[in-house]
Amino acid sequence: MTRQRLGVCYYPEHWPESRWREDAAMMKAIGLSFVRIGEFSWSRLEPSDGAYDFAWLARAIGALDQAGLKLVLGTPTATPPKWLVDKMPDMCALDADGRPRKFGSRRHYCFSHEGYAQECDRIVERLAQSFGAHPAVAAWQTDNEYGCHDTVLSYSQAALRAFRRWCETKYRSIDALNHAWGNVFWSMEYRSFDEIELPNLTVTEANPSHLMDFQRFSSDQIAAFNRRQVEIIRRHAPGTAILHNFMGSFVDFDHYTLSDDLDIAAWDSYPLGFLERSSNGDDFKLRYMRVGDPDFQAFHHDLYRACGRGRWQVMEQQPGPVNWAPWNPAPAKGAMRLWTFEAFAAGAEAVSYFRWRQAPFAQEQMHEALLLPNAEPNEGFHVVARIAQELAAVDAHVETFRAPVALVFDYESAWAWRIEPQGQDFSYVDLVLSIYRGLRRAGLSVDVAPPTAAAVGERQLIIAPALFAPSRQFTEALAKSGATILLGPRAGSKTADFQIPADLPPGVLRSLIDIRVRRMESLRPGASVRICGQGAFLRWREFLLLGESVQPELLSDDGETALARCDNVFYLSGWPDEELLGNVLRRVFHAAQLSTLDLPQDIRVRDNGAMRYIFNYGAEATDISALAGEETLMLGKRLLEPCGVAAFRRHD
Ligand code: GAL
Repeated sequence: MTRQRLGVCYYPEHWPESRWREDAAMMKAIGLSFVRIGEFSWSRLEPSDGAYDFAWLARAIGALDQAGLKLVLGTPTATPPKWLVDKMPDMCALDADGRPRKFGSRRHYCFSHEGYAQECDRIVERLAQSFGAHPAVAAWQTDNEYGCHDTVLSYSQAALRAFRRWCETKYRSIDALNHAWGNVFWSMEYRSFDEIELPNLTVTEANPSHLMDFQRFSSDQIAAFNRRQVEIIRRHAPGTAILHNFMGSFVDFDHYTLSDDLDIAAWDSYPLGFLERSSNGDDFKLRYMRVGDPDFQAFHHDLYRACGRGRWQVMEQQPGPVNWAPWNPAPAKGAMRLWTFEAFAAGAEAVSYFRWRQAPFAQEQMHEALLLPNAEPNEGFHVVARIAQELAAVDAHVETFRAPVALVFDYESAWAWRIEPQGQDFSYVDLVLSIYRGLRRAGLSVDVAPPTAAAVGERQLIIAPALFAPSRQFTEALAKSGATILLGPRAGSKTADFQIPADLPPGVLRSLIDIRVRRMESLRPGASVRICGQGAFLRWREFLLLGESVQPELLSDDGETALARCDNVFYLSGWPDEELLGNVLRRVFHAAQLSTLDLPQDIRVRDNGAMRYIFNYGAEATDISALAGEETLMLGKRLLEPCGVAAFRRHD
């Protein structure tokens, strides 16, 4: 079993070389074991075309290595230097209005530009040749946060050419494409693949099937871009782990597919920034402003654990105020530690902090770090030292066990309901998160799962909300699973071509529960549909026709079926408010014979095998004896302080 590790993100190129050894010694002294470097350093690695300077990087790696630190080496392809952009100006992505995304920050490249991809091959190959066999380089990171700053979709000529070929490979004949997209509507038919346009700058909305395929294509382009780097690194560094750092609340490409080429899925966790950017109301934001949403990070831990097939980590953990949210408060005392243990409890191999020292220059000068700009320790520095001591004391190892509950999360569904929300506030991610929150409030530990047979096997409960176009194989796997299943609003409501199923929604899912959806309505903020004293539907509701084998379990006040049931399969026909969700989940838990916990509002629990972790996201100390029984705590106290973490090994 591997030990849980702590790391930090470091930019030696930002500081005088005379500091490197001291920095390395300080890192080691507080218990850090690895350092990520290099991911934005192209202008220093190759100051002009073909003139490489890797000597400084070798010396930086040497300094860190000598202190006993391991390295995650990033490829610098998120920041192509000025000379390269000037050499091929058409490598920049074009936004939906057709404007270039110019040099001067980062991620100013188009994933479809073959010339740029070749430049990336070249620099990655050189780096991998130079450092692939270095004993201190323990892992590689490809690029940095693919898609950050809204960079997945590009409307360039390169993208147009590549999209046409992608469509040709998928459909083979233009008639098949016209049919799948329904192009007879509004005379949108094409006569050849070379006539296909990108779905931007149209007078009114573009065809949803066209938008969906463009999104799929763009997602495939990113996976292909990443794969090129992975293949090069594997040739020069066989056996060394390769990872990429994903983001929070970001669904613009299929992370499961891209992760198939990686060894570890990493993600960058900024709880306070994410909370400020979220769609939660002001009361919620004020309540959790210094600790973050109690469920958001945990959801992403579970999501990226599913992407990495078990191997995952946090690559960038917020250490203080950030610079990029609408408001940037300071974390509560203890919040950084709380976030770190929440990740380890969910099976993270490592947590690494962003960044070592606050930069006094350029874009992120207001972003806090473990050290102040003047190199004196800031608060986070001491917090990390404490966490490292605690990890050593409990001799913590990486553990992950299959959870009894699977919550299906699907990237195509996220794209589909963004393309066709039908009600302005229909957000797939928000819907899934609200259900995740309901599960966690009941004390359940959850696996997020892709819609595949393997991911849903051996479960007591499987929940698949708003699943756009489930495949036949997946539907069969659900039928065979023997688990209790909760489907619902919009599930199975389209075919993969983005059309209404021939026999009405829920399409193939009708083989699990014999219902048909005859009407759907979206509800403006403030409007709701009451469900017989059990809560209400907000935003979305459907009108069902029930087959003979189906029971209406809950009815709306206006007499429609709100929750339908056939044996162990339930279908929820709207977007539930918190009260209704709680009531629906209680019925479903009962059917699934799942035992739940009665948790105080701000307490969360994670069971991972024999380990139980308890977290306090509230402002009050809370007695957790009822959750800890007679067991001896390895961490924390029975009166759990605000931001407190408790952990123990269960003996039942
Ligand atoms: C991440 C990014 C880092 C840094 C950080 C600031 O999105 O990977 O390079 O910009 O945010 O919070």
